[in-house]
Amino acid sequence: MTLIPVVRTKKALARLVAGWRRQGLSVGFVPTMGALHPGHAALVKRASRENDRTIVSVFVNPLQFGPNEDYGRYPRALPADRKLVAAAGASAVYAPSAAEMYPKGFHTHVEVEGISDLYCGKYRPGHFRGVATVVLKLFNQVRADRAYFGEKDWQQVRILEDMIRDLDMPVEIVRVPIVREADGLALSSRNAYLSPAERRAAPALRAALEAGRKEARRPNSRPETVAAAVRRALAGTGLKVQYAAVWDGRLLAAAYLGKTRLIDNLPL
Ligand code: PAF
Repeated sequence: MTLIPVVRTKKALARLVAGWRRQGLSVGFVPTMGALHPGHAALVKRASRENDRTIVSVFVNPLQFGPNEDYGRYPRALPADRKLVAAAGASAVYAPSAAEMYPKGFHTHVEVEGISDLYCGKYRPGHFRGVATVVLKLFNQVRADRAYFGEKDWQQVRILEDMIRDLDMPVEIVRVPIVREADGLALSSRNAYLSPAERRAAPALRAALEAGRKEARRPNSRPETVAAAVRRALAGTGLKVQYAAVWDGRLLAAAYLGKTRLIDNLPL
């Protein structure tokens, strides 16, 4: 297996990408926080099909974690990540330090107003501001033609699409469908937190979304009855619903399983 380079600084990244540009090559970009799984591999495979070179960033972004969230214990696995993305067709990994990304004196943030306060944003204040800020910085650093995001984070993709439209950013966002385990659980780096018993309970989230979708297909259903169907389906499963909502043609939900927060969504 070929070992692909890991670049650690903005300067080294700019040099690498400029070399590709001089050869007239197109560049795809897959931003991640690492602890990669086959869902990320699907993003990288798609990017490498559609571009001459693909960069994967691995950066656990402190700005998008709340004070009581899992920044400190978020799984970090760079050597395994490097192998996984190389096998999926990536050309390089960009893994900057927090100091490289946010040098002393950093104080500029990106706020995609309104939409960032809904759903996940309501329960994770500042989260999408942190996401938008780091993604805008990453876009400026990588200068890719296309960037690939998973539909599991539906609200995140929609916020980033609004950001590039509003700020006239010269990058195309490509949405990639959710990858699931055989039992329906959407792949997520946070699934690693689940105990064996929690892992067995976790597919109930997707099953509850299916129940909601069934309700949505009834002639007199309303967004509230669809959300109520999701909540009903989760009762007694061990998952505690944070929200269930119909938005943007999707049915979205977040729920806690012990200390682990899971999100998922389905098209309606
Ligand atoms: O979806 C993620 O993993 C992160 O929110 C992202 C887009 C890499 C920004 O840190």
